[in-house]
Amino acid sequence: MLPVLAAVWSLLAVAFLAALLLLRAPAWRSDGRGGVSDLFHELIRYGKTRPPGWSLYYLVPKSWFTHFYVVSVVWNGSLLYWLFRAEFLGESLPSWIQDMHRALGRDSQNEDMADSEHFSALLVLLFLWLHSCRRLAECLWTSVFSNGFIHIVQYYYGLGFYIAVGSTVLCQVPTNVRTGKELSVQICWYHIVGITMYIWASLHQHRCLVILAKLRKNKSGKVVRLGYDVPFGDWFESVSCPHYFAELLIYVSMAIMLGFQNVTWWCVVMCVLFNQALAAVLSHEFYEKNFRSYPKHRKAFIPHVF
Ligand SMILES: NC(=O)c1ccc[n+]([C@@H]2O[C@H](COP(=O)([O-])OP(=O)(O)OC[C@H]3O[C@@H](n4cnc5c(N)ncnc54)[C@H](OP(=O)(O)O)[C@@H]3O)[C@@H](O)[C@H]2O)c1
Repeated sequence: MLPVLAAVWSLLAVAFLAALLLLRAPAWRSDGRGGVSDLFHELIRYGKTRPPGWSLYYLVPKSWFTHFYVVSVVWNGSLLYWLFRAEFLGESLPSWIQDMHRALGRDSQNEDMADSEHFSALLVLLFLWLHSCRRLAECLWTSVFSNGFIHIVQYYYGLGFYIAVGSTVLCQVPTNVRTGKELSVQICWYHIVGITMYIWASLHQHRCLVILAKLRKNKSGKVVRLGYDVPFGDWFESVSCPHYFAELLIYVSMAIMLGFQNVTWWCVVMCVLFNQALAAVLSHEFYEKNFRSYPKHRKAFIPHVF
């Protein structure tokens, strides 16, 4: 385990869990008259769950979600390139990455890692990059954004998240990756299970984002409205936010690819779990409040559970 990274991800997870619990407290319900509870709601709501008429300060368009994936494709693509060269060509990682490794406590870790563990880290970085490429393509060509907003703090969190998540994967390998030796690929059963789950969750996430986009298009695919409607089909039959549930499964699939026992990565999974649960609860409340005939059996986030 890398204590600094695990502590940072755990703190974020606790912050999102606390926000989720505070939502239930009457004193923290926003009354639109200013104060700490309104600031809290400003920071956790975005897009459709941000009531119209709220302060327009410190906001950026929600379509700027696209920037998260541009940054992720470039940053995590570069990390993947350097890790690939280090693993297969025996090259050293750039010196600034080695400095980052040391700053995050990697140096004090046991440097004696099995080839299968090296392969796991490479695989997770590859699939994180592929996930970012797909999400970028969806932001550019699938999703239909309205004129909703996100808070500037949420925007910087999103940019930081994708830089931190790839760096966390890279820190799973020793600073001097292979000290001149080339990696011999060792595929394990948990790699196969993780990749299968990743593909399954990604397919459903894509289908659900297509369903949301179609709510704003006519039969010939032309965008005809920018309002919100009740989505049906695929995992929407069970939960209000299946794309958030799929996101959680994608991060769990990476924990599986890392062999189940990487504590630092499970802290990342916890952060994604509570972050997406918070957004799902707010969306679920939005649907129940705005659509009288909203299906009663639908849960917010995890089918049959919550
Ligand atoms: N890993 C993480 O920490 C993390 C964090 C956040 C998001 N994500 C992922 O990023 C993806 C997008 O997240 P998001 O929060 O932007 O999802 P979202 O709010 O559901 O929005 C997705 C798209 O669907 C539209 N939309 C949403 N509900 C709609 C409805 N009822 N009727 C018509 N259109 C609707 C949105 O338009 P508007 O422009 O009007 O909103 C947007 O274009 C998800 O897959 C999520 O898992 C990951």
